[in-house]
Amino acid sequence: MNINQIYRPRSFNLSALEGISDRTLDMHFKLYEGYVKETNRLNENIAEFLKDGQIDQEEMPAYSELTRRLGFEYNGMVLHEYYFDNLTKSRRSEPTSTSAFRKAADESFGSYATWKADFVGVGKMRGVGWAICYQDPANQRLSNHWVTLHQIGNVAGFIPVLVMDVWEHAFLLDYKPSERSQYIQAFFVNIDWDRVEKRLGDCTAARSAA
Ligand SMILES: [Fe+2]
Repeated sequence: MNINQIYRPRSFNLSALEGISDRTLDMHFKLYEGYVKETNRLNENIAEFLKDGQIDQEEMPAYSELTRRLGFEYNGMVLHEYYFDNLTKSRRSEPTSTSAFRKAADESFGSYATWKADFVGVGKMRGVGWAICYQDPANQRLSNHWVTLHQIGNVAGFIPVLVMDVWEHAFLLDYKPSERSQYIQAFFVNIDWDRVEKRLGDCTAARSAA
């Protein structure tokens, strides 16, 4: 297989969301495709260095620079897939009262409302990045994290359950930079809670609890 084609951009059947325009989505899909392309390109370039089976000392600076960029490009690709996947035209801004997600939020934060206050708070933090609700596979606890750029703040082995892009490109065509909270409100109206529930179901123990 051509290493340059290891990853192929996925297409997402998303349009007519509430408060997130098709124009924004189209621009955002193209941006995501750029991360896929760049991930493939980095892998291709690193493979070139490895062709002779070793990294020569004089190759080390260029090889290191490419390798350091993997975290940014891989996470840029993967987090956008999580983000688009947890959006839909549901018009259902809250999980149902009997849902597994609400139960997990209750158990982890005392109440769903407190979980939401924390997640929204993380989303409003200054800077570019992501608000991500993860589940720890060792004890099923939910926690919300701020991920700067795409690669700083991800927790190894935790399962992303709900992923919200709060880079300005995610909302700037629809809102002013100061209106991030309106975008976050719109994001909630379009959450695919069924998808979020399925991610909880995927939570097989990758790390033991004790
Ligand atoms: Fe984005």
